[in-house]
Amino acid sequence: MAVEQKKIKHAVVKPGKLFIGGEWRDAVSGKTFETVNPATGDVITHVAEADAPDIDLAVQAARKAFEEGPWGRLTAHDRGRIVWRIGDLIEEHADELAELEVLDTGKPIREARYIDIPMAANCFRYYGGWTTKIEGETIPVAGPFFNYTVREPMGVVGQIIPWNFPLLMAAWKVAPALACGNTVVLKPAEQTPLSALRLGELCQEAGVPDGVVNIVPGFGPTAGAALVKHPEVNKIAFTGEVATGQEIMRNAAETLKPISLELGGKSPNIVFADADLDAAVKGAIMGIYFNQGECCAAGSRLFVQDNIHDEFMEKLVQRARTLRQGDPFDPETQIGALISEEHMNKVMGYIELGRREGAKLVAGGQRLGEKGYFVRPTVFDEVDNAMRIAQEEIFGPVVAVIPFKDVDDVVQKSNAVIYGLAAAVWTRDIKKAHTLARQLKAGTVWINTYNVLDTTSPFGGYKMSGFGRELGRYALDLYTQVKSVWVDLS
Ligand code: NAI
Ligand code: MG
Repeated sequence: MAVEQKKIKHAVVKPGKLFIGGEWRDAVSGKTFETVNPATGDVITHVAEADAPDIDLAVQAARKAFEEGPWGRLTAHDRGRIVWRIGDLIEEHADELAELEVLDTGKPIREARYIDIPMAANCFRYYGGWTTKIEGETIPVAGPFFNYTVREPMGVVGQIIPWNFPLLMAAWKVAPALACGNTVVLKPAEQTPLSALRLGELCQEAGVPDGVVNIVPGFGPTAGAALVKHPEVNKIAFTGEVATGQEIMRNAAETLKPISLELGGKSPNIVFADADLDAAVKGAIMGIYFNQGECCAAGSRLFVQDNIHDEFMEKLVQRARTLRQGDPFDPETQIGALISEEHMNKVMGYIELGRREGAKLVAGGQRLGEKGYFVRPTVFDEVDNAMRIAQEEIFGPVVAVIPFKDVDDVVQKSNAVIYGLAAAVWTRDIKKAHTLARQLKAGTVWINTYNVLDTTSPFGGYKMSGFGRELGRYALDLYTQVKSVWVDLS
């Protein structure tokens, strides 16, 4: 299959700068790094590389904007209008943003254009609506006192995001932080800085005052770590891998920063014999191959009840083999390229490991073409839950099919991982569905569906998938702190 790049129609690709204090500037060191198109391996452009001195400038700008700027004096109504306006601008520029996202990530244009970008716009509008609803309480304390609470912003918030949904992850972080009145320093992933930088321009256009949003592309151990350690940063929000979350937690301890972590997963997708099998097959395919499997919530452990195994697998393999993979700019493409050569090698390494561990490869298992980082949709059957391919996050288009006998067996196996981000159950039995929803240790449980998310409903992990809940009103808890005020009435 030829991987041919269609013309970019809307996006303008230019060298990336750092967005600090409302200005676009080079790094203090003058260094830049390349960002690469994963579908071709070609360099898209060069981007200024932030390191500790730039992070310090960005944090100072955010501090100044928080303490002195007009941001803190805006009414909640006016702040809400600005946050909402960012959403409108994302929607107005959806074609262009979708192209930037496809260039930087290799994901299919139809996903970027109809999922990532609209959800990002929606997220800003949703939190724009919250600014006027962040309320305190009056509390019936003993004695002649009037006691009330106010919810105040945390201050300067540092946010570190991954490369799998670059603009959407920026929206999940920036929108609630702004709605709560914070100022932000956002570090996009080094693989995917372009849409975040464009978001910086749209924030300016929306009327976000200088210094309220700062965007500092750079690498994790340098720029990311400097942000986590900075004493003037009041909170860190992170999405990425477990080992990085652990490092961030260690580094945040020095300054006792509150952190929220959304980490990886190895989510069970459980198909009972009494399920609508065609729907379950579709859900299993979408659950693992959406975004090339580069999803923290990917349904990467597929539990199939013994007595439907053969029928189910026949349908699953047939679908996996016929997914359209190739040029991510082709609107027909269903599965694109992995983010980088390094990541492709990691995924191919897991495929090799699966063979060595004795799992049965029944679909995929190889690259597509030699240009770009495409890996064919891969299915391993007869996987044992103890194998490494069943325990470790692969973050690619590789599903481990694990047989099970009954409810007790599958609940035990499902929970026997370090992760707890999501889980799904396919059955027509309503009691069984809700019973499992309680027994599965996961922050999200889907029943007869997969990968459904909405800005209004909380998302986050149990166990080593992290802590803190993003989205919905729960995100307000991440970005506010509560003050108790006492008045003597005697
Ligand atoms: P990562 O967790 O290292 O990177 C995510 C973000 O953290 C990036 O912006 C990176 O620059 C930053 N970062 C890295 N080290 C840091 C540090 N010491 N201090 C502060 N920030 C730091 O993930 P990576 O290396 O890109 O991918 C490795 C694996 O992580 C993937 O194969 C996948 O399994 C998992 N992953 C999970 C994601 C999720 O959504 N839960 C997203 C991306 C990756
Ligand atoms: Mg890393």
